[in-house]
Amino acid sequence: MFKTISMNKTHALFLLLLLAVMPSFAQPPMQGGEWKASDGKHVNVHGGNILALGGTYYWYGEARSHDGKPYSSLGVGLYTSKDLLHWTSRGLVLPVSREAGSDIEGGCIMERPKVVYNARTRKYVMWFHLELKGQGYDAARYGIATSDTPAGPFRFVRSGRVNPGGWPIGFSLPDTTDLRHQLLFPELKAWWTPEWRTQIERGMFFVRDLEGGQMARDMTIFVDDDGKAYHVYSSEDNLTLQIAQLADDYMSHNGSFVRVAAGGQNEAPTVFKKDGVYWMITSGCTGWAPNAARMFCAKNIFGPWKQLPNPCRGEGADKTFGAQGTYIFELTTGRERKLFKGAGHVFMADIWNPEHLSESRHLWIPVTFEDGVPVLRK
Ligand code: GAL
Repeated sequence: MFKTISMNKTHALFLLLLLAVMPSFAQPPMQGGEWKASDGKHVNVHGGNILALGGTYYWYGEARSHDGKPYSSLGVGLYTSKDLLHWTSRGLVLPVSREAGSDIEGGCIMERPKVVYNARTRKYVMWFHLELKGQGYDAARYGIATSDTPAGPFRFVRSGRVNPGGWPIGFSLPDTTDLRHQLLFPELKAWWTPEWRTQIERGMFFVRDLEGGQMARDMTIFVDDDGKAYHVYSSEDNLTLQIAQLADDYMSHNGSFVRVAAGGQNEAPTVFKKDGVYWMITSGCTGWAPNAARMFCAKNIFGPWKQLPNPCRGEGADKTFGAQGTYIFELTTGRERKLFKGAGHVFMADIWNPEHLSESRHLWIPVTFEDGVPVLRK
């Protein structure tokens, strides 16, 4: 009898010990584990960004319903924190609309929201990728919303395509009067042929969308040291990136834009600047499935952009450690840098769970420099 009890005690002790050490086997929240906010639920903002304001961090992102449907946008959610580790949900700062016919009517898709502060107007401006209800991913629009306070609520302003009728900087017109015929080559039926690719580079899809405006899907907003802001987005059927400057109030495009890596199929753009050099890290186009990251650098935001090798190193580098980038956040205080191995920037990424987008995990990794180029190590 005594022996049985003592055996049970030993078992219980062993179990307790196991439970005590188990959490250390689980992935930490910043590295793809469950990240519980103060309400005990996993942080449900994805594809978003962080704004640091007077000692508070504002983390905006896609709020997804828990029903597991792909068209599951609830709107844009916000969490706040004092230390980047512990987060409190502040609810939806831009919910999908109940109004029938609204551009953001429930059933629409709102992705990759980025909120920036405009010092001139003292307003918070949100840009996001919008797909209209019932149209899959065909609309390819940007959406804009604004608020007087970082915690919202944000007021939806409008959605649209980018720079209708506008020509990119440095775009040379082919030597023809019938430009559209020349570029669209109606007889060019097969995709992914060398001829097709040349036409993409020359601007076949750019010209197709000239009148209605350029497609805008995966996106980020980059604010430069001089306060000028840029909308960086996958355009032209996700084949070509475009970088379009915003007006001084950040509420529209100012008409200046460039095409980048034409035909290169880049998505999920993230941009940062260090010592006068612009760095851009993107993904390839494989939907929710991870792929290898790509990297570009430039001395001028409008290019030329030079492509460099994948910045990821170590195990999982060929799939961006299972994630896809969303934003590069600058670390300015000593405490922030300490959290990320002394790095000056952190690469925020999403480990998508397409069956349950609300459960998608977060991967934040320091951006360190090796041999003068950014490197991502998990
Ligand atoms: C990804 C993109 C996501 C989402 C998804 C839909 O490539 O980065 O934001 O649009 O495709 O399949």
